[in-house]
Amino acid sequence: MLASVKTARLGLLTAASLLLNGTVSAQTPAADAPAKAAAMNEQELLFWVLLGLLGLLLLVLLFVGIMVAVQMRPQLRQLYDLPTVHNTWSGKMLGLLVGDPALVRGDVRDEELDHNYDGIREFDNDLPPWWKYGFGFTIVFAFVYVGYYHVTQKGQLQTAEYETEMRQAALLVAAGADDPTKLTTYLALTTAADLSSGKSIYVTNCAPCHGANAEGKVGPNLTDDFWLHGGEVNHVYKTIKYGIPSKGMVAWKGKLSGKQILQVTSYALSLLGSQPANPKPPQGEKEAVAKPLAMR
Ligand code: HEC
Repeated sequence: MLASVKTARLGLLTAASLLLNGTVSAQTPAADAPAKAAAMNEQELLFWVLLGLLGLLLLVLLFVGIMVAVQMRPQLRQLYDLPTVHNTWSGKMLGLLVGDPALVRGDVRDEELDHNYDGIREFDNDLPPWWKYGFGFTIVFAFVYVGYYHVTQKGQLQTAEYETEMRQAALLVAAGADDPTKLTTYLALTTAADLSSGKSIYVTNCAPCHGANAEGKVGPNLTDDFWLHGGEVNHVYKTIKYGIPSKGMVAWKGKLSGKQILQVTSYALSLLGSQPANPKPPQGEKEAVAKPLAMR
């Protein structure tokens, strides 16, 4: 008992010192954003320290309460046995405190009925009160349940709940529609403006690896009929967008916009069959890709 009081006092002391430190540094002027964030953190710390303090206090109160109850059990028992107290609700609470077994298993226990069937005796035991209250609770619960789910139809039943969740999930998927396993359905751009934008994107970003005329250097030749990852516009778009990181082809997603990727894709395809000087030998599989033509 003494030891626990000592530790409790120690705990209070540390909590109090933490509290003091917290308030002192929270008062320092928070001029810029990091300082503000720090102040926020200190507020949070203060909150937890206060909460911890409250918890500690409750724990101590509980402890004291239990000690008092244990010490005063005989007196409490006498109080509980008074007929004016015994059958009231507060009396029952008191009964739980002093540990009256009748509150758990009922008043009548092992009282024999005067039936005797070939030596089989019948007892007339009370249903335990906790069981009866539990039973009552299930009945109340059933009414609330039927009212909530079937009468007012406020609650969602299984199927409806499932459908709602699926709808929400679908919304989430649509928000980030960026699935590397799915192909886009673009057509190559053919206007002069798009192709010249594509060209300038190519020259700054791609030429170092694929050559100034797409003849191929580190990266493959883009002007021949051989493709490692497909030469159709949407395959090329996908290769450029997500890259082949393990093979040194950069993922341009996030560096170029979707439109820019389509522009550079279209520009690269416009170079098909241009037969540049010093071409890199073919890589991949032969695939006859129709060179995109300007639509008239
Ligand atoms: C750092 C070097 C590098 C840069 C920069 C680079 N690539 Fe590549 N690229 C590669 C390599 C290496 C490969 C071959 C990947 C493989 O072996 O799978 C490749 C493959 C490709 C392919 C697939 C070719 C095929 O045969 O399927 C395309 C299309 C492509 N790059 C286009 C581009 C475009 C467009 C750019 C500029 C926006 C670009 N690359 C920038 C290195 C690069």
